[in-house]
Amino acid sequence: MLWGGCHNLGVATQGALPKTSLILKPTPLHRLDRMSHVLGIDLWIKRDDLTGFAFGGNKGRKLEYLLGLAVSQGVEVVVTCGSAQSNFIRQLAAGCTMLGIKFAAYVMQLPYEFQPAEGGLRTEGGNLLLDEIVGADIRLLDNDVWDVLMAKSTELAEEYRALGKNVFEIPIGGYTPQGAYAFYEAASEIKGDFDWIVSASSSGSTQTGLTYAFHCSQTRVKGIACDPEPAMVDEFVVLAEKLNDIVGGNVRLGHEDFDFDLRYVGPGYGVPSAGSMDAIRTLARTEGIFLDPIYTGKAFHGLMEMAKSGEINGKVCFWHTGGLPALFALPTLDL
Ligand SMILES: Cc1ncc(COP(=O)(O)O)c(C=O)c1O
Repeated sequence: MLWGGCHNLGVATQGALPKTSLILKPTPLHRLDRMSHVLGIDLWIKRDDLTGFAFGGNKGRKLEYLLGLAVSQGVEVVVTCGSAQSNFIRQLAAGCTMLGIKFAAYVMQLPYEFQPAEGGLRTEGGNLLLDEIVGADIRLLDNDVWDVLMAKSTELAEEYRALGKNVFEIPIGGYTPQGAYAFYEAASEIKGDFDWIVSASSSGSTQTGLTYAFHCSQTRVKGIACDPEPAMVDEFVVLAEKLNDIVGGNVRLGHEDFDFDLRYVGPGYGVPSAGSMDAIRTLARTEGIFLDPIYTGKAFHGLMEMAKSGEINGKVCFWHTGGLPALFALPTLDL
């Protein structure tokens, strides 16, 4: 149920969305005493790295709905595409296996148009190793642009359709209203007394769901961009509209409602930054908690900088969105 006014915490839908159970919820939420002392804020962490599903991560929440939909439609093969070290693909591969669905994906190391040609994660080990272990059909493309990768993914879906299979195509990163809904729902796992929630943001389902849930509350949601694309916010606005339709609410979010911070991307999407490596070491050496180099390391880098400058203060929740297998695909340790 919506909690009244324009406060959107709580969960309501126009009708039940198909769902399957993949993760252990609620994920832990606990205080980081030593890091709070270092940064001079009251710092908490939401442990979506500990979902108990396929090495953890935020995609498990979205997949409960996406794969629920696939199951409800009698799908036999799921096809998607993404970067070679995609956390989404690793969790999707595992989820399909759990449900007896064949999984196939086209992947590439980096999309050339936005990226430095070097410095990306390796195309072996890490998530790719886990994809291979669960038996996913992974096709590796030489670096190209996203449009070419998506066209390849469509061809792959056709390949399975030609075998008479019922194929379900999922967009990159699970960018869907159901994904945003999963994070709107996740917001009810934490009490509304935080001043800030900080998380990594890329395709936007996580940030959109949380921003919608905490709109008009005291809690401000800050997404740290992991993709250097200011125009992503246009897509968040559209996603929020669709989320609003799902929950049957009356909240319209505009560009001004999304705090999408582009300062900590570093060299580019999919490329580790010196700041993220520093953040990884700092949190590990202060609290024994690991972050990843592409998403959570960059987000925690931003959190540390903003806490030091006083830009964020009070009671802060760092939403740990997982991604840890990418640590084992770093191009070099000398970062
Ligand atoms: C570890 C991790 N954190 C954060 C994100 C960003 O989540 P979203 O796509 O919902 O913006 C991703 C997306 O791939 C991810 O793998």
